[in-house]
Amino acid sequence: MIRFFGHILTSVGSKVLVALSGLALAGFVVFHMLGNLQLFEGPEALNTYAAFLRDMPILLWTARVGLLGIAGLHIGLAVRLAVLNRRARPVGYAVREYRRASLSSRTMAVTGSLLLLFILFHLLHLTAGWVDTSFPDRLDLRGHRDVFGKVVHAFQNPLFVAVYLAGQAVLGLHLSHALSSSLQTLGVEHPLLDRLFRGAGPLVAVLVVVGNAAIILAVAFGLVRA
Ligand code: HEM
Repeated sequence: MIRFFGHILTSVGSKVLVALSGLALAGFVVFHMLGNLQLFEGPEALNTYAAFLRDMPILLWTARVGLLGIAGLHIGLAVRLAVLNRRARPVGYAVREYRRASLSSRTMAVTGSLLLLFILFHLLHLTAGWVDTSFPDRLDLRGHRDVFGKVVHAFQNPLFVAVYLAGQAVLGLHLSHALSSSLQTLGVEHPLLDRLFRGAGPLVAVLVVVGNAAIILAVAFGLVRA
């Protein structure tokens, strides 16, 4: 046990755990986006799906606690790694070599922090309902929570559209580099796999951002209404 925690505390152990927890969080983001796309099928589909998730409290709370634990581990170890890296090179590079590093790889700490802020805002907004009290939780005709109505109400407000689109930009930048580098951390060294992993991050990031932005913009432009 002590050896296990000792291994985690090494930077290699931390890197592997950051990669594994990051992949689990990315899995949630993809799953969440696919579920939310049911908005395009109308209120019944989205509200039934949301009710299906809520109707299994044990599963819901296991997933919530698990997600929170994974997010905490991911953030804590990522911050620790950043501090260790900085300590290992206390004097900055004389000339920063940015040519080969992509924009997303250079800004991981910034995009990670902004993403955390966006998620906190999103939870207070759509899960807790504290940010916008003008749409209280209500039931649809079938007695399900009207999640469809809540999402449509949100994106009819240009301020929320702007915040959520900015959140997607940050999510896209973070996911794009994080996924590729997690796969590379866990992967086998091989030129072909390396190219595959390099492409996988940006591809998944684009799919998630396009899916989420489609929801936001479809409501904003009146293509989906309550
Ligand atoms: C257009 C984009 C998005 C929409 C429309 C959306 C919609 C929603 C809605 C309606 C809920 C509440 C569900 C309910 O009350 O039953 C929710 C919860 C949540 N969302 Fe999102 N979401 C979006 C993007 C994201 C992103 C990008 C993330 C993470 C990076 C995220 C993370 C979460 C989490 C963690 C919850 C709480 C789940 C729970 O405990 O029930 N969402 N989202």
